[in-house]
Formats: sequence, structure tokens, C-alpha cells
Amino acid sequence: MAADGLRHEFKVVVVTGVPGVGKTTVLSELAKIAESRGVKIKVSNFGTYMLETALKEGIVDDRDKIRTLPLRKQLELQRLAAQAIVRDAARELGSDGVLIVDTHALVKTSAGYWPGLPRHVLDELKPDMIAVIEASPEEIAARQARDRSRYRADMGGVEGVRRLLEEARTASIASAVHYASTVAFIENREGKASEAAMQLLQLIEKL
Ligand code: AP5
Repeated sequence: MAADGLRHEFKVVVVTGVPGVGKTTVLSELAKIAESRGVKIKVSNFGTYMLETALKEGIVDDRDKIRTLPLRKQLELQRLAAQAIVRDAARELGSDGVLIVDTHALVKTSAGYWPGLPRHVLDELKPDMIAVIEASPEEIAARQARDRSRYRADMGGVEGVRRLLEEARTASIASAVHYASTVAFIENREGKASEAAMQLLQLIEKL
């Protein structure tokens, strides 16, 4: 571990954003560009780790149901996911490369807004950077509506997205304080996911 326990040997970039803003799309573009520029990355989706455990336990059948589980259960899944992500990254990356974690700074659960990056998660991830992917509330609501593969009706349309965008911004900054992470805001403009990916990669190269 580098920097007296404040960092992992590999770099860690946590990517957050309102559901449907396009995090996963931007990160698949990033994976292509990173390879061509010789940057070794591993992208891990936090929700997928939570889902794997929840599926094994037979408590959900869909990733969009995780946020409706009892909060104590979500907390347990959150803790296990953070530990497993770092364990897998250490095995794969060793002392080199960049772990990218696709997740949320704030989750809209049935019991209220809930931090995706509370201290116990940060103690595992120790992020060098928290990147916040953004777009206008109107664009995000339109992407949510177009993406039929997911259930996002509980996000509350344009007004619900606007509120979540503002609160998630604040939550990202609050989370950054614990491990002195930088916070970067990246616009994922309509039809320009590869530009957002390039902007993110250029920031990662400066870490
Ligand atoms: P997860 O599946 O990560 O949540 P999500 O944000 O709802 O879904 P995505 O990440 O798939 O959305 P996205 O923003 O990446 O959008 P996409 O690229 O698909 O997590 C599932 C659950 O896990 C959460 O609900 C939560 O319960 C739990 N969880 C996760 N992290 C947690 C944590 N830390 N703590 C506790 N719980 C946690 O794009 C959407 C659409 O937009 C697509 O159709 C795409 O084609 C389109 N699009 C994207 N970019 C553009 C563009 N530039 N122009 C036009 N269209 C675009």
C-alpha cells in the first residue's frame, strides 16, 4: 500500500452519476481508448457485485430492485461489494494500472437518499479521484425513458433528476474529503460519449 495507507498501489477512480446519465456507456468508450494509449484499466460495476450476492441469496431478480431492499440488507451488500472489488483488483492489477469503479455517490432508495460512498466503502476503495458524469436533467430523463432495458420510473422525471443531480454533486464532494480525492465533473453530451471518455482519460493520466 502506498502513501501510508491512504492509497492502493494501483490508482482508483470512482465514477458516479445519476442513473441513466451514461456512466456505463462512457466507461466502455474509455476502455477502448485506454487500451490504445497503453493505460491498463479494470472497470468494476459496484451494482453488479451487489447483484451477484443478492441473486445468490434469491432476494432480487433484477438490479433495479436492489435499492428497494431493506436498508440494513443494502448496507451488507454494499460492504461485501466494496471488499470484493478491491480484492479482485489487487489480484488483477497488482501494483500497476487503474481500477475504475462504476457506482453512485447517492442512491435513491425506498427509505430516502442514501450514500453510495460512505466511510466504510471509502476505507476499502481509497479513491484518487471521484469523477461525476453529468448531463442536463432533460437529457438524462430522455435517456432513462429511451433505455427500455432498465426500470427508472422511480427517478421522478426531469424534476426528480434535477434534484438528484444537485444532491449527488454535494455527496460526491463530501465523500472526497475522507481520502483527499480530487473531484472532476465531466459532461456526457448528447451523442458525445467518446469525448467524455477522452476527457476522463486525460484527467486519469495526470493522477
Ligand atoms: P447501476 O446499474 O450501476 O445503476 P444505474 O446508474 O441505474 O444504471 P447504469 O449505471 O447502467 O446507468 P448509466 O448511468 O451507466 O447509463 P447507461 O450508460 O446505461 O447500479 C444498480 C444498483 O446498484 C443501483 O440502483 C443501486 O441500488 C446499487 N448500487 C450501485 N452502487 C452502489 C453503492 N455504492 N452503494 C449502494 N448501492 C449501490 O446509459 C443509459 C442510456 O443512455 C443508454 O440507452 C445509452 O445508450 C444512452 N446514452 C449514454 N450516453 C449517451 C450520450 N452521450 N448520448 C446519447 N445517449 C446516451
